[in-house]
Amino acid sequence: MSEIARFGVSLDKSLLEKFDRLIKARRYTNRSEAIRDLIRQELVREEWEKGREVVGAVTIVYDHHQRAVLNKINDIQHEFLDTIISTQHIHLDRHNCCEIIAVRGRAGDVQRLSDTLKSVKGVRHETLNMSSTGKAIE
Ligand code: NI
Repeated sequence: MSEIARFGVSLDKSLLEKFDRLIKARRYTNRSEAIRDLIRQELVREEWEKGREVVGAVTIVYDHHQRAVLNKINDIQHEFLDTIISTQHIHLDRHNCCEIIAVRGRAGDVQRLSDTLKSVKGVRHETLNMSSTGKAIE
C-alpha cells in the first residue's frame, strides 16, 4: 500500500450533514472510507470516458423460447471475442434466461457490445456494470 496522506476539507455544514446521513445509510464506518470510494468512482468513470482499458459485466435477461433472440445473442458474442472473457448462463425459470458476460477491453468496445445486446429484440433487460482493471484506483 502506498503512503497515506491526510488533508482537510471545507464545506457547508448542511452539505456535510447530508453527506453524513448518506454514508450512514450506506454503512460506511467513517468519512474517509466514503470519500475514498467517491474518488475511485470518479477515476473509474474517467477511464471509461477516455476509452481506456476497462473491466465490467454485461447482464442480459431474455425469453429463451424466442429462438431468434438466442441465435442473435450468440452471434453478437462471437463478434466480440477480444472483449469477452467468459459468459455465465443462468436458467431463471421456465421462460427466462440470464447471461452475465464478463468483459475486459477498450471502453468503446465494451460499450458497443452493451449497446448491441440491448438493441436485440426480445432482450427484456440489459445492464452494463462499469469497473476497472485496478491500475487507476490504486
Ligand atoms: Ni437458460
